[in-house]
Amino acid sequence: MTPRQRALHPVIWTLLLAAGLMSAFSLTPKQAGADEAAPQASSAGILARGDALRGQTAYESRCGGCHSLDADRIGPRHRGVYGRKAGSIADFDYSEALKASGVVWDAASLDRWLSGPEAFIPGQRMGFSVSDAGVRADIIAYLKQESERR
Ligand code: HEC
Repeated sequence: MTPRQRALHPVIWTLLLAAGLMSAFSLTPKQAGADEAAPQASSAGILARGDALRGQTAYESRCGGCHSLDADRIGPRHRGVYGRKAGSIADFDYSEALKASGVVWDAASLDRWLSGPEAFIPGQRMGFSVSDAGVRADIIAYLKQESERR
């Protein structure tokens, strides 16, 4: 063993132990069979647990710098966005990419947009994302609530 290998030794054992524990857990009979559906089901689960009241606070602090419900600012107004075609406020100066996207805003598309707008619709113009899935779900619940309350 080289000194470098010796130094890495405890690290490797820790990784092996962690991998062993993880596979031990994922092989418990309770989880077997559910594995394939899990990621999809859990993100839908997180979206379903979105809370509009928490979402309002998060919306005001994170989105309020550029958006509001009833007035266009740096970004377009949001009332009615849930169920609306992307890029469809007539007097807002959208990117061509967003207008041409063909996206309709629902929980799934909003979740993808807020996770990373550029990855979802390359060439768009919103330089902001929300990494926490729970916060995204809350904001989406709030946008949905306010879109229904016209
Ligand atoms: C730094 C400014 C900025 C912030 C912060 C921001 N946005 Fe945006 N947003 C924009 C811009 C600019 C656009 C238009 C993008 C384009 O035309 O490509 C946009 C577009 C959107 C659209 C598409 C609307 C439509 O009519 O198609 C949604 C939905 C949206 N933003 C949601 C949010 C939410 C929710 C937040 C907070 C988590 C947020 N944005 C934060 C600037 C911002």
